[in-house]
Amino acid sequence: MSRKTLVTCGLPYANGPAHIGHLRTYIPADIFVRSLRKQGRDTVFVCGSDAHGTPIVINAEELGITPSELVEKYHDHFDQVFKSLDIIFDEFGSTESQTNHNRTIDIVNRLIDNDHVFLKSIELAYCPTCGRFLPDRYVEGTCPDCGATARGDECDQGCGKHLEPGEILEPVCKICRSKAEYRVQEHFFFRLSDFKDFLSDHLDKLEGTLNARNYALGWINNELNDWCITRNLEWGVRFPDHEELVVYVWVDAPIGYISFTEDWANRHGIDWKEYWMNPGGDTDIIHFIGGDIIYHHCIFWPAMLKGAGYTLPRAVVASGMVKIGDKTFSKSRGYVVWVNDDYLDKGFHPDLLRYYLASYTSHTKELNFSWKIFQEKVNNELVGTLGNFIYRTSLFAYKNFGAVPDGEIDPEVVKTIEDAKNSVIESFNEYEFKKGIDAAMSLASFGNSYFQSNEPWKSIKTDAPGAKKTIRNCLHIVKALAILFEPAMPKLASEAWRQLGMESDSELSNTPYDEVTVEIKAGQTLLKPSMLFTKIEDSKIAEMERSLDDRVLMATKKKHVSFEEFSELDIRIGTIVQAEPIKKSKKLLKLMVDLGETKARQIVAGIAETHNPDDLVGRQVAVLANMKPAKLFGVESRGMILAADHDGAILLSPERKVRAGTCVR
Ligand code: MSP
Ligand code: ZN
Repeated sequence: MSRKTLVTCGLPYANGPAHIGHLRTYIPADIFVRSLRKQGRDTVFVCGSDAHGTPIVINAEELGITPSELVEKYHDHFDQVFKSLDIIFDEFGSTESQTNHNRTIDIVNRLIDNDHVFLKSIELAYCPTCGRFLPDRYVEGTCPDCGATARGDECDQGCGKHLEPGEILEPVCKICRSKAEYRVQEHFFFRLSDFKDFLSDHLDKLEGTLNARNYALGWINNELNDWCITRNLEWGVRFPDHEELVVYVWVDAPIGYISFTEDWANRHGIDWKEYWMNPGGDTDIIHFIGGDIIYHHCIFWPAMLKGAGYTLPRAVVASGMVKIGDKTFSKSRGYVVWVNDDYLDKGFHPDLLRYYLASYTSHTKELNFSWKIFQEKVNNELVGTLGNFIYRTSLFAYKNFGAVPDGEIDPEVVKTIEDAKNSVIESFNEYEFKKGIDAAMSLASFGNSYFQSNEPWKSIKTDAPGAKKTIRNCLHIVKALAILFEPAMPKLASEAWRQLGMESDSELSNTPYDEVTVEIKAGQTLLKPSMLFTKIEDSKIAEMERSLDDRVLMATKKKHVSFEEFSELDIRIGTIVQAEPIKKSKKLLKLMVDLGETKARQIVAGIAETHNPDDLVGRQVAVLANMKPAKLFGVESRGMILAADHDGAILLSPERKVRAGTCVR
């Protein structure tokens, strides 16, 4: 018997609308599942809403609704978005379900029974104003590792590190902005350090994409900190025998993969344990995620599964992150493209986005979203190559014959189709989505040159059987293209299938890859073809770009300024004459800067982590000289040093040495 596969996707937080960054988990996973099914493999595809965690509680509080109302709203939203994009799960559950609560409690109890959990006193951020402990995102402060502004559980704008309770520096309450203090409290910990050897062995065998494995190996080579798994919250899965605590969201969230499988299996009279409590059995678990949650899936999760005696995943497939102009997606900064508002509601076809996201670059690379490149790919590849071949073939066939003509299929055509099929299958099986789609596209290019070089528009007048044969071969290629493109573009491929008159025989999604070698039936009635792909106009793209730019401007509250307004800024070149550290501050330096005035100015700059004081003396920099004076760590600062902000400060200097105080405009 062949092996069974369970494919899961990182669960969307039911906390806000879907953006196209999310889709880089779901679209490739859906392509992968469709591709497995086309190979006749028994495959289950599950996902669901991540209902817990502090952002949901905070957000609901701000909106004046209950967390459960918020979750329901966005659960329905994601469900609808996935359906609109033909991302079809066998189960789309929620981690708030009873099944998931029960499964979480079972796993936590097993971890306790197996002595992987212990109680420890720790210092936790506490807000004296609100009178409460501040779990995870209730607290903001400074990352102890990189110094970036971070939230309680993750350094999201800096090094990306997972932060344990109590780790964040200079904590501030997110709700009331008061300074938080640290207070001692007892919490439950998972002894991750017990699993170091197991993890190193597990990661050695782990399949999927190399980025996941290598990144995780990097982590376990450092120290593995024990992991605090309880939080002071009302919303979540109660920790056994502790009314005041819930488990950390990253405990019950991946357990959703199990409970969704349970719910699906129970509906179908299947034993879910075959998938999850059957180590060494004939099932493969494959997790699709984004590169931001590798740590959780390659360290926490397998250790939990192992500790509780459940089946381990065979592969973790991690995508590169989707960005905009090299910037991480951020709702608050306006760097976001929403799936509904910015794409589907603007009238774009869902398959174009599936195609673009899966084929723009290799799966593990970062993807900078660009409307311009989206347009180019659609117009050149989908309209220019694939659409062009399908349409000219179908139109010619429909007008001249009305049905699939007879004639011999060329051995060259047979071979090219066979090669394309093998390459598509192999690439998708290796999570090389771009490569697979490119292989299918090269069959369309071959079709175009086959059509072009056989000149059926000429032979139809002089050699009717020859023209018939050419068109029969082209229609046979179109049929293969529909099959090979179905995983990536299910709707449009099905439309091509329908126009070929294939639908009465079989549905495209149930048609295996091997059907590409079955000759298209002569005499099959063709439907009147319509163009599957149409060009996207420059004006439409300009409109989309403008709306993205406007959103960033709005979000960052930046507006257009007149020259007069700009002139209010007194920017000058200064020469640094003295530089020294500031006691107790890791980030700040005290500088004396000659701005062409009688006395050098004292300016405090946040460049201590990137610059050595001694190297700065004598350097010229750009300075905002009429910055409001301020005190930092008790040190007066009269001016601001200007720097490019990219992984730390990069100072701006004049092209050549100028007189100190020279004006910049
Ligand atoms: N709820 C967690 C996952 C729990 S899995 C047990 C989560 N949710 S999320 O809504 O932030 O992300 C959902 C999926 O989208 C995850 O697989 C995540 O990696 C992916 N992505 C979210 N933003 C992304 C980009 N900007 N780029 C690529 N993938 C991203 O994480
Ligand atoms: Zn507070």
